[in-house]
Amino acid sequence: MKTLYRDASSLVLPGEAFGQLEVIENGAFLVEDGKISWVGDTSAAPDADEQVSLAGRSVIPGFVDSHAHLIFAGDRSEEFSYRMAGQPYKSGGINTTVRDTRAATDEELRTNARELVEEFRASGITHFEIKSGYGLDTESELRSLRIAREFTEDVTFLGAHVVPSGVEREQYIAEIIGPMLAGAVEYAKWIDVFCDQGAFSLEESRAVLEAGIAAGLKPRMHSNQLGNQGGIQLGVEFGCASIDHCTHLSEDDINSLAGSNTVVTLVPGAEFSTKSKYPDAGRLVAAGITVAIATDCNPGSSFTTSMPFCIAIAVREMGLSPDEALWAATRGGARALQNEKGSLAIGADADFVVLDAPNHIHLAYRPGVQLVEQTYVAGQKVYER
Ligand code: NIG
Ligand code: FE
Repeated sequence: MKTLYRDASSLVLPGEAFGQLEVIENGAFLVEDGKISWVGDTSAAPDADEQVSLAGRSVIPGFVDSHAHLIFAGDRSEEFSYRMAGQPYKSGGINTTVRDTRAATDEELRTNARELVEEFRASGITHFEIKSGYGLDTESELRSLRIAREFTEDVTFLGAHVVPSGVEREQYIAEIIGPMLAGAVEYAKWIDVFCDQGAFSLEESRAVLEAGIAAGLKPRMHSNQLGNQGGIQLGVEFGCASIDHCTHLSEDDINSLAGSNTVVTLVPGAEFSTKSKYPDAGRLVAAGITVAIATDCNPGSSFTTSMPFCIAIAVREMGLSPDEALWAATRGGARALQNEKGSLAIGADADFVVLDAPNHIHLAYRPGVQLVEQTYVAGQKVYER
């Protein structure tokens, strides 16, 4: 079965270089067996079994969200309102969610995650990562990873989120790199650590990443969100696919990143929801660093499932151009997960989004408006406005 999507006002094709987009006006593409088999101008389109006109609409690749914490229970809206009144964000709030997550049934966690995934689809996200990190004992972490694995192949073990209340640090780290990790490898592809003030020190982070890599997991990090304890050098040394947050960076950090293949994943929702200063993405781009944008969806610091919202902030507050932000939310996310998603090249999975807009600039130009009209995964419609 060949389906031709035609007459798109603009068809946006991210290139391989950071921020590079090819935009075909009056564009068309053919979907065959869930993959893109032809792309070009509508006037040159091949025959198909079925034709769908997208007149007045734009098509972009589905967003790739490389950083999400969807396995949790409970609500922290009160903590958000205190922050808006001037209280600083503290990593200790994670333990509130740990308490609620442990108390929830598997079905409650699954239902919550499923609802958030539906929101992801409505926001144009077609591929996403999910972390554990709200169980923080062996049984609860493994349960979170098992449920996460029902939704995505990009599962990340984040036992090293914080030290849970009532547990001694050294004992907890031994548990992470011992029984938790031994069980986690069945479900997880990635090892993550929150290397920051109030979470894990540089040396503790090193121990966690080293053990994770030795067990066959690939490294990524939360770092430099709340301060700078040298996490960037550590992440680069370990060849992390991505270091996420990166709010506080020194010149040395920028130089290390620039000389590496590590992606910097910015999470605009976190600065928004913690009332923190936005990182300067323009500085990263000028240094030649590959930048991704992710939702960081979690109940504490960034309770959003909207990639368009994150794009709008990245453009308005972080210094990315609309083209760079679109690239960062598609190919950037894919680079951060080391996969080939976020593209509409021939042979790519037909993961795409139809926008009720003449071009992708509208994602930032019309903040807060539901422009995502349809979302497709492997050629199948998974969302319609
Ligand atoms: O990515 N920074 C660490 N972890 C999460 C926040 C977790 C929470 O506050 O519940 C984040 O922002
Ligand atoms: Fe996070």
